[in-house]
Amino acid sequence: MDNLNLKNKHIILGITGGIAAYKSAVLARLFVKAGAEVQVIMTPNAREFIAPVTMSALTGKPVVTQFFSANSGEWHSHVDLGLWADAMVIAPATACTLAKMATGVADNMLVTSYLSAKCPVFVAPAMDLDMMAHPSTARNLATLAADGVHIIEPATGELASHLTGRGRMEEPARIAAVLDEFFAAQSADSASLAGKKVLISAGPTVERIDPVRYISNFSTGKMGYAIAAEAARRGAEVVLVSGPCSLPTPAGVRRVDVESAREMLAAVEQDFASADIAIMAAAVADYAPAEYVDHKIKRERDDIDSIALVKNPDIARTVGQMKRPGQLLVGFALETDHGPENAVNKLRSKKLDMIVLNSLSDPGAGFGTDTNKVSIFFADTSRPAVRFELKDKTAVAADILDTIATL
Ligand code: C5P
Repeated sequence: MDNLNLKNKHIILGITGGIAAYKSAVLARLFVKAGAEVQVIMTPNAREFIAPVTMSALTGKPVVTQFFSANSGEWHSHVDLGLWADAMVIAPATACTLAKMATGVADNMLVTSYLSAKCPVFVAPAMDLDMMAHPSTARNLATLAADGVHIIEPATGELASHLTGRGRMEEPARIAAVLDEFFAAQSADSASLAGKKVLISAGPTVERIDPVRYISNFSTGKMGYAIAAEAARRGAEVVLVSGPCSLPTPAGVRRVDVESAREMLAAVEQDFASADIAIMAAAVADYAPAEYVDHKIKRERDDIDSIALVKNPDIARTVGQMKRPGQLLVGFALETDHGPENAVNKLRSKKLDMIVLNSLSDPGAGFGTDTNKVSIFFADTSRPAVRFELKDKTAVAADILDTIATL
């Protein structure tokens, strides 16, 4: 096993206090042999199981355990480490560290670095079978999986307690192979949308009543921005037409800021003809005030009992009419009831090729959350709908783009 995809990769190897920590030395050696740079971070307890000097000799870098260097008093920046890494692997990951990661208890350098890390994170749990089987461990692992952490499932076998069961840390060679496969897939998808133009609408629209008041909705833009970031990472030219939201523009994305549905329609029309894929993720306000009052409407006025509204243009439906063969149009449906029927009706009436349904009744799905749970329906009636689990919105974005790639 050469693990060719690990070459020049920056890997944080997190070690926690379990018997399997002796295997972390072998894992570090495999990473280094494959050409990776490895920075070890140990929890204070891990030092009881394997000597930091062993790990620093294998990796050629001082091991970090404390926020400050004991000798120089120098501050170890968890933020810098988190940004430096291409991947973070915590092996072994004890029940305690998994619990801290799941709840954000940043009382050591390892968990603090995890919270700052922008890179993919892998955990290889290792513990006794009863701890592994405990509902709290299962709950923490489910939380971490929903946060986008990759779980390297423990094997079943003899444990340090001499009991036999599930809880043995996966073998170092297998952990190194999991990372190698991950980087291989990552470099394959970094070119998968090369040469394609992807147009995305995101966020809410804001419809002004007067200079200080408006009609809008609770959309934060997170889902659309995550799709834009992922499409750019896969090599696409990305245009993100965004209603007002407070998210940073993802790297490599051209963002066009708009406010109202009418402005959003104009901006989407501008780029639609040249787009290969259009993904309409915006929560467009259905109505706008019929008239904009150019001064602040006074509270003292007692003749207001309603605001006249007009229907906004349906952007997805409008571009659906303009669609050329070969162009793909994807919409979203956010429903509180009869989700699948409503989604399929929207798919047909707007001439979409695919629709992503999220239901407000699923906990963790919908507006403002970092996670989402979606089902995807296709215009091609021979294709059954696909249902995904609750995931981090970045992982949902990847699922959506993977599904588009199959069309
Ligand atoms: O009809 P509904 O608003 O539920 O449809 C949702 C889908 O249509 C989403 O893809 C949304 O971005 C798009 N849409 C639109 N313009 C509207 C309303 C919805 O593009 N005025």
